Amino acid sequence: MGQYRIAALPGDGIGPDITREAQKVLEAVAAKFGHTFAYEEALIGGAAIDETGSPLPDETVARCKASDAVLLGAIGGPKWDTTDPDGVRPEQGLLGIRKALELYANLRPVKIFDALIDSSTVKPDVIRGVDIMIVRELTGGIYFGKRERVGEMAYDTMEYNAYEVERIVRMACELARARNTANVCSVDKANVLEASRLWREVAHRVAAEYPDIELWDQLVDNSAQQIIKNPRQFDVMVTGNMFGDILSDEASMLSGSLGMLASASLGDGPGLYEPSHGSAPKYTGMDVANPTATVLSAALMLRYSLELGREADAVEVAIERVLADGYRTKDIMSEGRELVGTSRMGDLIAERVE
Ligand code: IPM
Ligand code: MG
Repeated sequence: MGQYRIAALPGDGIGPDITREAQKVLEAVAAKFGHTFAYEEALIGGAAIDETGSPLPDETVARCKASDAVLLGAIGGPKWDTTDPDGVRPEQGLLGIRKALELYANLRPVKIFDALIDSSTVKPDVIRGVDIMIVRELTGGIYFGKRERVGEMAYDTMEYNAYEVERIVRMACELARARNTANVCSVDKANVLEASRLWREVAHRVAAEYPDIELWDQLVDNSAQQIIKNPRQFDVMVTGNMFGDILSDEASMLSGSLGMLASASLGDGPGLYEPSHGSAPKYTGMDVANPTATVLSAALMLRYSLELGREADAVEVAIERVLADGYRTKDIMSEGRELVGTSRMGDLIAERVE
């Protein structure tokens, strides 16, 4: 029976709606397993800009650092969109907290729930049994490189240091081991980019320390095809920040909806857990968003940061049951199923935690 401190960062748009449901499910876990989760709320993104002028107030960083784990909703919205190079953007809050907590590894599991096989736009035969762990490097690459706007010209730079590649590939190899697979696909663009050539070289150097792991390379444009063509060939995929951002959104569509894709961002301190999707501003407060990705992220939090594996399993099983019982939010709705809203979905999952 443990006591845990969780920093809750609801953020913008549907962020508060889905974070609330994840907390609801965590409360069910607390009740069943006798734990206590103490939440500290903090501002991030547009909500933080409105209140403090900054997308990532110092206080938020301090609260996150003092917690056992961070649960985040989503950030951004048209209200704060700007093309002004000096403008303040909600996304800076998200990138900033990842950097501040040194969350270099972003885990995005793409697992197909049997009950949802028909709600994907990809054929059932292609997606049945898919279980991919995308490992995205999160604090380097082009999202953090030098950039500048010079009149009518602008540039961004993709930089990687060997140590950044080393630690993310090591994480991927360790995860592969834990999943009992030898299959690690390293995705790059080594036929064009120098940063990718370094990536590839270092990836193989690290993999050589893991004789039980087979690390193979794939060019990112080919990966984009292969994920749709034959997703079962993949088990663990490891890649840089931008490629991982794009490929994980693509892979999420195998499961029918971005609303099902969870994520865990890990470093050496507290981990951060957030759905892979955005803040869907037009659905704010309308009780239509799918909270499952956030609830699944909370399960990852239980597993990776709080070392509560049994509790994490219980949440995942609860979600499977809700889907098997035929309940669907709008994004995964299909004929003959029962349409439910955000809050009801949270209730249904919470009720099934045991
Ligand atoms: C994600 C998002 C973010 C990212 C944006 C909002 C900065 O797309 O978490 O995938 O690119 O990392
Ligand atoms: Mg993204």
